[in-house]
Amino acid sequence: MQSLKLIATTLFFFACLFYAFDPTESQNITYSYCDTGNNYTSGSVFEQNLNFTLTSLASDASRTGFYTTAIGQNTNKVYGLVLCRGDISDQDCQACASTASIEIIKQCSSNNKEAAIGYENCLLRYSDWRFFSTVDSSPKFMAYNVNNVTDPVVFNRHLGNLLGTLSSNAASSTSKFSVGHTNFSDFQNINAMVQCTRDLAENSCSNCLLDIIRFIPRCCNGKQGGQVFSLSCNLRFEIYPFFLLSSPPPASLVQPNSTSQDVTNHILFFFTEKKNTSKVIVFVAIPVAATMVVAVIVCCCFFRRKGKNKRVDNDPDKEGNTSMESLLIGLDTLKVATRNFSRENKLGEGGFGPV
Ligand SMILES: *[C@@H]1O[C@H](CO)[C@@H](O)[C@H](O)[C@H]1NC(C)=O
Ligand SMILES: *[C@@H]1O[C@H](CO)[C@@H](O)[C@H](O)[C@H]1NC(C)=O
Ligand SMILES: *[C@@H]1O[C@H](CO)[C@@H](O)[C@H](O)[C@H]1NC(C)=O
Ligand SMILES: *[C@@H]1O[C@H](CO)[C@@H](O)[C@H](O)[C@H]1NC(C)=O
Ligand SMILES: *[C@@H]1O[C@H](CO)[C@@H](O)[C@H](O)[C@H]1NC(C)=O
Ligand SMILES: *[C@@H]1O[C@H](CO)[C@@H](O)[C@H](O)[C@H]1NC(C)=O
Repeated sequence: MQSLKLIATTLFFFACLFYAFDPTESQNITYSYCDTGNNYTSGSVFEQNLNFTLTSLASDASRTGFYTTAIGQNTNKVYGLVLCRGDISDQDCQACASTASIEIIKQCSSNNKEAAIGYENCLLRYSDWRFFSTVDSSPKFMAYNVNNVTDPVVFNRHLGNLLGTLSSNAASSTSKFSVGHTNFSDFQNINAMVQCTRDLAENSCSNCLLDIIRFIPRCCNGKQGGQVFSLSCNLRFEIYPFFLLSSPPPASLVQPNSTSQDVTNHILFFFTEKKNTSKVIVFVAIPVAATMVVAVIVCCCFFRRKGKNKRVDNDPDKEGNTSMESLLIGLDTLKVATRNFSRENKLGEGGFGPV
């Protein structure tokens, strides 16, 4: 058992490669995921179907901001999905989907039968298996705002409450998207956004969001902002308004000027719990040596913290490694949010929990 644990931890550590953005330059969040254990041959029927799939995803994404398709027969069948952020324009959706459909082939250049690429504005994914309606909670990609909050305890309580509310709103809506804000103090709001892919059922969406909410302490504890993306859902919070909807935010909220403000000062990294070493995950970014060092330190800190924290919650379904997060972001909220979840659908079996 001990050696298994050690292997799992070691694998996780090597999967925990970090890249960071140079905060002084305008950045776009980009992440990609390539399954190098499963390749197609160049010129094959599969590749042809993949080409059709990508073309179709790029052209149909902007109609509703979400599109799935399946092209081909039997083992050459390709399943594709594209999801745009719920608050962006058709043009931005279209632009993002088009970029994604081209970049995904470049990033996963070893002809991978399964891949995903994500940006601030959209996620595009394809596979040789029918992944629709199932939650994929690993890998996860995260980014945090480097600025600290002044009172993390209060902040986390408000954040937990807000994300709990938004998660149920998103899960029960057809758009699977929800934004909102809360009052942190007289002069500061927390703004947040959650989104699931629209093929997910209510319970699956809730499960997916709960799973990424639990990761906030690992990525963004005490930070003024953060983002967590999985292949099935994502979330973001900031102390400034960043979403573009005109109706939900009240007039008192300043409209965001541009997205460049959004990602400035964000440090990005990715994270996977998959034990399967054939899954290669790449953060496509502008790597900066100096900030990578910081990121590696952050990585090491996670290991230390993981080791030090004792299990404090009493939910028998939870693994020990989730207890710290639950506590930090407001245990009550999570308990409420978990109530309706199907136990069988339990997700996110950890690569570094009890093995
Ligand atoms: C970021 O995205 C915007 C529009 O989506 C684009 O205009 C800009 O060139 C991108 N910046 C970088 C550094 O790629
Ligand atoms: C897929 O291609 C990559 C890169 O060429 C290679 O490393 C990997 O071994 C291949 N996988 C299989 C299962 O052939
Ligand atoms: C698929 O598209 C790529 C890039 O456009 C091209 O190089 C390749 O030949 C196409 N494959 C097939 C089978 O059409
Ligand atoms: C935030 O807090 C951490 C540790 O508490 C510190 O190292 C870091 O410099 C702080 N960041 C800012 C922007 O103040
Ligand atoms: C935020 O707080 C202010 C003053 O504390 C209050 O007037 C306002 O209604 C609150 N807004 C929301 C959305 O809770
Ligand atoms: C938005 O941009 C305008 C001019 O570019 C500037 O005056 C204003 O302060 C900006 N607002 C915010 C919230 O950054």
